[in-house]
Amino acid sequence: MLFLTATPALELEHINKILKTEGMKEIATESGINRLGEGAWHFAYLIEEEQLVLRIPKKIAYEKEVLFNEKALREEYAATLAFYQHANKVKKGICPEHFKFRVKKDMTYTMESYMGDSAGLSQQTTKESKQYGRELGMFFRALESVKPPYKGIGYLEEGENGELRGKMGKDLHAFLLEESREYEEELQELVASPYEFNKEKVIKKAECLLLNRSVDKEQVVLTNQDTSPENILFTQRGAKMIDPFPLLYSGTSLAANHLFNYQTLFPTFYNTIRYGKGNYDRYIPQLAANAKGFMEGYTAGSRQKHADLHVEVFLKLLTMSYTHLQLLKEEVLNREQVIRFGTKAQVEERLLIYLKKLEGYPLF
Ligand SMILES: Nc1ncnc2c1ncn2[C@@H]1O[C@H](COP(=O)(O)OP(=O)(O)O)[C@@H](O)[C@H]1O
Ligand SMILES: [Mg+2]
Repeated sequence: MLFLTATPALELEHINKILKTEGMKEIATESGINRLGEGAWHFAYLIEEEQLVLRIPKKIAYEKEVLFNEKALREEYAATLAFYQHANKVKKGICPEHFKFRVKKDMTYTMESYMGDSAGLSQQTTKESKQYGRELGMFFRALESVKPPYKGIGYLEEGENGELRGKMGKDLHAFLLEESREYEEELQELVASPYEFNKEKVIKKAECLLLNRSVDKEQVVLTNQDTSPENILFTQRGAKMIDPFPLLYSGTSLAANHLFNYQTLFPTFYNTIRYGKGNYDRYIPQLAANAKGFMEGYTAGSRQKHADLHVEVFLKLLTMSYTHLQLLKEEVLNREQVIRFGTKAQVEERLLIYLKKLEGYPLF
């Protein structure tokens, strides 16, 4: 267990040092450690007596040593706390009620409410997956009706007085228009590539969809970009959200992000080192059912919302195709790129799938 700390110690020793700092009962022996799981960045432990989860950042992420960056860690944890509080106002109990953190060179950790055991995708019927998706969709829609408590747009950072704010001071509508131009440029590059697909058809479709993009209707929403199945706990008491990547942005865009990920990204990233553990290729029906429920919950019968979402999902597909094309233009992929996206051959194989999907994407 390699933790991000300036004073390396054994796992039990380090955990106990934290528990002592928190005024909690220490763990007597190695066998008393309850390892909950690990993501790319943290080890998570259940502190049974308090029903709390202790998360300690890893020293190695994506096979590289993580450097201690006090401000970045503080911003990450402050943003998590901000999202948890905001989310719980919108839907009580969807996120941990309790969250605190400490960022110090020798001891960095977070402590949050234990949200229960997750029935992984493997244990869900598609009916259950759809219901979880529906709950998440309704929650994402509800987020849109609450004014965010922070200024700016984009990911959160600490301002001069330690307050949280979006990294960009721009107007959302202007930014969305700028982003639409970028999508057009990405499409141009895809069309200019030697990869064969019905380019005329995709250009026409993209033009029409972009023209109908919801820009003026969008408001800034405090929302979450990371709703991967690792960070959604599918519990008996419903879907719970942990480890968010909060940002201030268009709600429709982030709802589309969830849909795109469950419909397309996870089913096509199962062969990467990063997502291999998820075995998502075996759970495509559950992922698809989650997406279907999400769509129903989010749109709540609104044809307009349905159309807006449809445009944004197309843009996610377009930009992911573009990312893959860019990776293929690199001489060699670095280790992190390989871990995240796979080998060049896998990236190319995936790009071909995406181009077919772009071609077949329904107009409305
Ligand atoms: N509050 C929580 N309640 C229940 N399980 C949790 C909680 N926090 C983390 N876990 C478990 O630990 C795993 C890793 O924690 P996570 O915070 O997602 O780490 P990372 O930041 O590396 O992705 C999660 O996927 C989940 O299984
Ligand atoms: Mg995680």
